[in-house]
Amino acid sequence: MQIITDPSELQSCCLAWRMQGLKTALVPTMGYFHAGHESLMAHARSNADKVVVTLFVNPAQFGPNEDLAAYPRNHERDIVIAESHGVDVLFLPEAGSMYAPDHATWVDVPELAKGLCGITRPIHFRGVCTVVMKLFMLTLPKVAVFGQKDWQQVAIIKRMVRDLNVPVEIVPCPIVREHDGLALSSRNVYLAGHERAQAPAIRAGLLQAKGMVADGCRNVDELAQAIRHYWAEKLPDGVEDYLSFVHPDTLAPLERIDDAALCAVAVKLGKARLIDNIVLTEQ
Ligand code: PAJ
Repeated sequence: MQIITDPSELQSCCLAWRMQGLKTALVPTMGYFHAGHESLMAHARSNADKVVVTLFVNPAQFGPNEDLAAYPRNHERDIVIAESHGVDVLFLPEAGSMYAPDHATWVDVPELAKGLCGITRPIHFRGVCTVVMKLFMLTLPKVAVFGQKDWQQVAIIKRMVRDLNVPVEIVPCPIVREHDGLALSSRNVYLAGHERAQAPAIRAGLLQAKGMVADGCRNVDELAQAIRHYWAEKLPDGVEDYLSFVHPDTLAPLERIDDAALCAVAVKLGKARLIDNIVLTEQ
């Protein structure tokens, strides 16, 4: 595995592959790898000639009071993991080499970025879209692999790619969970013992709602009430950031569960802000 730190070196390498007709799969990450990241690497490995994993804690997607400085990092371990998945290039840009001091160009999809995580993280998805577009330009991939844990992120990137005619296929992969149902996240290390014990209730509440929908409930207020009731008992230290019922593609809020429906949540638990989601009904 080659480790590249210089953006223009990465671009030359990937352009040469493209000119040889090789198919590149891109896996963008912020590192501190867990089995969720590994599932994306494995998918990329079995669907492309060349796999590029990028590891960059992108300052542009963190708000001023967020955890940019504290974000967990362990490059040595991450290198071993990427290598074990047959990754061809791990891109580890030097801090500062990705944004010029007078960087002035942004990619934004405000219609989809304003709700859910965008309510408390207003600049987050503009930072995500901009860095993902830069990574597409640097790696010229045929496919890019993303996790459905960040459902809103995937919906926004799909829309960006469609709207700007970006020739990259976006491949969403399922959420990887702990045995007790907690979605894997680099931020789970922030949880204290008693918080970690309560955290699986986030998913368990969503499963309750899914069960109610399977039994015929179509009323989002009733579903929200059931989830909150469950959380009040099993997740006493959790503070709801949002609990929303939206269309899975447009992210438009739903008044009733009719066709396709997603329930997406964010909960603050101690120092961690945890997100999760569940598809209630398919299209
Ligand atoms: P990061 O949080 O490191 O996540 C990298 C990728 O791993 C994302 O596509 C995310 O959805 C996926 N992922 C995280 N936890 C997962 C889980 N439990 N199961 C499956 N996939 C999971 O998301 C980002 O970084 C950044 O916003 C990025 C896209 C790299 C732009 O900076």
